[in-house]
Amino acid sequence: KKTVDDINVQGKKVLVRCDFNVPLKDGVITDENRLTAALPTINKLIKDGAKVILCSHLGKPKGEPKPELSLAPVAKRLAELLDKEVVFAADDNVVGDNAKKAVADMKDGDVVLLQNTRYRKEETKNGDEFSKDLGSLAEIFVNDAFGTAHRAHCSNVGVTKYVDTCVVGYLMQKEIDFLGNAVNSPKRPFVAILGGAKVSDKINVINNLLDKVDTLIIGGGMAYTFLKSMGNEVGLSLLEEDKVDYAKEMIDKAKEKGVNFLLPVDTVVAQEFKNDTPFKTVVRGNIEPDWEGLDIGEKTRELFANAVKDAKTVVWNGPMGVFEFENFAGGTIAVAKALAETDATTIIGGGDSAAAVNQLGFGDKMTHISTGGGASLEFLEGKELPGVAAADNK
Ligand code: 3PG
Repeated sequence: KKTVDDINVQGKKVLVRCDFNVPLKDGVITDENRLTAALPTINKLIKDGAKVILCSHLGKPKGEPKPELSLAPVAKRLAELLDKEVVFAADDNVVGDNAKKAVADMKDGDVVLLQNTRYRKEETKNGDEFSKDLGSLAEIFVNDAFGTAHRAHCSNVGVTKYVDTCVVGYLMQKEIDFLGNAVNSPKRPFVAILGGAKVSDKINVINNLLDKVDTLIIGGGMAYTFLKSMGNEVGLSLLEEDKVDYAKEMIDKAKEKGVNFLLPVDTVVAQEFKNDTPFKTVVRGNIEPDWEGLDIGEKTRELFANAVKDAKTVVWNGPMGVFEFENFAGGTIAVAKALAETDATTIIGGGDSAAAVNQLGFGDKMTHISTGGGASLEFLEGKELPGVAAADNK
């Protein structure tokens, strides 16, 4: 892709689409990884003398200006991180008088942040009017919002029609490189670890990865549907009855393809879905009717860690158990630790697994932690992401 390194931005107005969709609690940003990940591109543009106009969505205001979804806290925190003034153009219609005036007043190297793009209802419909409004602010468009790349919205796709030049930012390029290389030209052995609650969230990921990997590991809530498809009792564990046949098909596909397919051999079961409840470890097939699996057991942790040890590429998406509960975080911690210790290139698909790795303090031990949740999953499904496709179409 053409990047910010390939263009001259001196004195130009540059609209940068970032993914500043960060979690907020009482107006405070609780995880600022998406902000820090955007800094290299913003700093480069500032240094090269661009007029830097930032935009992003936040949450799902559905076309209504909602004060609790204002980007004001992001503007404030960004100014601190950049050590520079960030003018927040707080128009309810995003490109209004405040934005136009702020842009007109910009000097080279200045930074403006527009209001939440989803305050405009056309945004999620990729409508022309808002795309044009956004495009009217700048000559160059930089897409650095990998986290939003699976959406075809005005601020990442439509807007490209209304600017002279489009390129990707460093974060977008890095995400495409790491995830793309892992999936399309991995160093082998290539191991994928999938977890999380539901099989239905990862149907196409499993199917696509079975064409690519040497080993596929399944843990987390989704494992029980696979275990059930092999005839095991799973008690009150999460089970998607309508995906049992699919799970069986995938196990058969793995055999056909010669993929080493690993499922839990033991499970930490609990009496209730909470931290403070009786729990014990049982071997595969021995989950009693009144118990539910909330984590992978010790033997499984060893099995999974061993599979990762000699790998050259590991992709991980989805926790191994209910890691929010201390008593059931052991499996997720063990896998994070195994990844931290291997020499393999380790790539963490975003969302819960990225949060888990960061919370557990293994963040700086991984080769790459994606800022995309849905976007990284769709990438692993082998789909072309609309935001990526449009990102350098000019
Ligand atoms: C995300 O957090 O996955 C992206 O920012 C996209 O947000 P969305 O799911 O609300 O479109």
